[in-house]
Amino acid sequence: MAPDPFQDKFAQWSALVGGLAHELKNPLSTMNLNLQLLREDWAEERGPLGHRSIRKIDVMLQESERLEQMLSDFLRLTSPAPLDLKSVDPSNLIEDVFGFMNSELLKNNINVEMQLDRNLDPILADENLLRQALLNLVKNAIDAIGDNHGSISVFTREVEDAIHIEIIDTGCGMSDETLEQIFTYYFSTKSTGTGLGLPMVQRLAVQHGGEIRCESSLGRGTKFTLVLPRNGSNSE
Ligand SMILES: Nc1ncnc2c1ncn2[C@@H]1O[C@H](COP(=O)(O)OP(=O)(O)OP(=O)(O)O)[C@@H](O)[C@H]1O
Ligand SMILES: [Mg+2]
Repeated sequence: MAPDPFQDKFAQWSALVGGLAHELKNPLSTMNLNLQLLREDWAEERGPLGHRSIRKIDVMLQESERLEQMLSDFLRLTSPAPLDLKSVDPSNLIEDVFGFMNSELLKNNINVEMQLDRNLDPILADENLLRQALLNLVKNAIDAIGDNHGSISVFTREVEDAIHIEIIDTGCGMSDETLEQIFTYYFSTKSTGTGLGLPMVQRLAVQHGGEIRCESSLGRGTKFTLVLPRNGSNSE
């Protein structure tokens, strides 16, 4: 078969941009490390100048961490490593993820209801990727609820040879126009969002031979269903 010139160009482009993203990570982590050291130095200065400087350093630290996260997400999407499939207990992992987000959930007065099917067999999955995907879904739910004291419900169930993980929030919901674009790279309605969270979740689902579904109603809330085959079959 003749080589596809578009595929060829796309591969070259990905390699180039992926390489650049990779190169950016080193100077960025050096900057980050030095900012942390600078922060320690200024922490000894008790006067107003010390306070003002620490505040500015914190802003720079926050932004450099955001850039690091963005580059890591980007690299994960453009050059995904092969899946590291292990036996994973979905209930344990979900509890872990919510435990990790506990302070944020408490801070936002979010009520969490879990109905996890304890009889679920372990599934074959890449635990780190799955944890990251669940974190993305929970963070989105927290963002969607904002200050409105809502709730997040999590259900797991077995449907044929797959498990379904449902994450339902009572947040702001989405318009049909937004809903159509949520899996597009870099689509975000948030001022500080990168728009890589849901494409990452979708990529994980597809890599595991599953899918991610979303239903949403503006002003009422959103339900994401992550469908994962129990045997983690890799469709790529
Ligand atoms: N639970 C939700 N409720 C309402 N809108 C949502 C929800 N989850 C996602 N969205 C919409 O989908 C968009 C894309 O989500 P995605 O997670 O990909 O990016 P993000 O959250 O904006 O940024 P980040 O890359 O930091 O995750 C969001 O900006 C938001 O508009
Ligand atoms: Mg997100």
